[in-house]
Amino acid sequence: MNAPLKQHLIDPEICIRCYTCEMTCPINAIEHDDNNVVVNADLCNFCMDCIPVCPTGSIDEWRVVKTPYSLESQYGWEELPEQEDIGQNEAETGLEALDDAMAALLAEAHKGAGGKATAPASAAKPTINMYNLGKPAIAKVQGNYRLTKDESHDVRHIILDLGALPFPVLEGQSVGVIPPGEDTDGKPHLPRLYSVSSPRDGERPNFNNVSLMVKREENGLCSNYICDLEKDAEVKITGPFGATFLLPDDPDARLLMICTGTGSAPMRAFTMRRQRTLDGKSGGMVMFFGARTQDTLPYFGPLSKVPQDLLEQHLVYSREAEKEYVQDRMTAEQDRVAELLNDPKTHIYICGLRGMEEGVEKAFTNIAESMGEQWVSLRDAMREEGRYHVETY
Ligand code: A2P
Repeated sequence: MNAPLKQHLIDPEICIRCYTCEMTCPINAIEHDDNNVVVNADLCNFCMDCIPVCPTGSIDEWRVVKTPYSLESQYGWEELPEQEDIGQNEAETGLEALDDAMAALLAEAHKGAGGKATAPASAAKPTINMYNLGKPAIAKVQGNYRLTKDESHDVRHIILDLGALPFPVLEGQSVGVIPPGEDTDGKPHLPRLYSVSSPRDGERPNFNNVSLMVKREENGLCSNYICDLEKDAEVKITGPFGATFLLPDDPDARLLMICTGTGSAPMRAFTMRRQRTLDGKSGGMVMFFGARTQDTLPYFGPLSKVPQDLLEQHLVYSREAEKEYVQDRMTAEQDRVAELLNDPKTHIYICGLRGMEEGVEKAFTNIAESMGEQWVSLRDAMREEGRYHVETY
């Protein structure tokens, strides 16, 4: 009889198809087809390099199996299979040593704030992976507007019209954009992922459209393609993706949103959704938003018109006279943050530069300490309850 073994898998429901794990894996054990991203059990050596780079935690799945799931079967999945019953004793005896080593590696890989997430209990059920590489949706550009005053910092608001195609998207989900052309190996380019910045009923309510916030990156193949798109151009898109970084539908839920740059896209979607549906009457939203300067902060103009009693705004700048990061302002507003952390109705959302995670974690650690709490246990409990969400890149 085969000894049971541990197999590394990816949850196709949560995976946002950013392919970062595939690009990170040092031994090419991760691959994809039009549908899914999968791990080759014959190659994976549990090095864990792919764990911390995954923005969603969908990479952090393990099953004890007698026969590993083949690549072919993983490609066909819409959801992960449950752990099969292989007899507990066998599993215990065969895996103890591996488990200890893996637990140590996993703990190391999870040092950042990311990790396995759960959707908010009251979130609507998202649709996932409706359009993929082999069968993308064709959207038409309805508008392409500049969001920043600074000439050297081009951030754009792109509105895509889906016409008659169904494209059900929830706030917090992402969409893949396939740049035209081929890579150096003659293969079509992989889609690049962008958070949707419009609410579920569209940028313009009830016109089947979604908007994206895209920053032009120097030499960025896809960002330059998108930022240069003209009205009526056709764009191939995939998705929607993402099943956990979602808005609670419970109007009493309180949102603590922490973001930098284009990480504000989902926060805009959350705010618009609440503006449209709750007429401002909600548990409240508090945002810490970091940019280099006022002129590089996307939507600075429209944001200043959103009333503070709907969205409490802490806009901070890292390259103006007073240099501040989001975590500095959180610390300065320690009592405000502590009060939110104390409330079981609070949901935390962190989106933007990966680098900010460490600083934000430190700020939370100190604030929790001042409340006589331990941040790591508070955070892990919140994550399990679907109240703690991180998407960094
Ligand atoms: P800076 O680059 O001045 O160090 P953008 O994406 O538009 O550049 O905005 C990102 C913002 O996040 C900038 O203000 C940037 O500051 C800031 N930032 C960079 N690193 C960190 C970090 N480790 N923690 C928090 N904010 C950061």
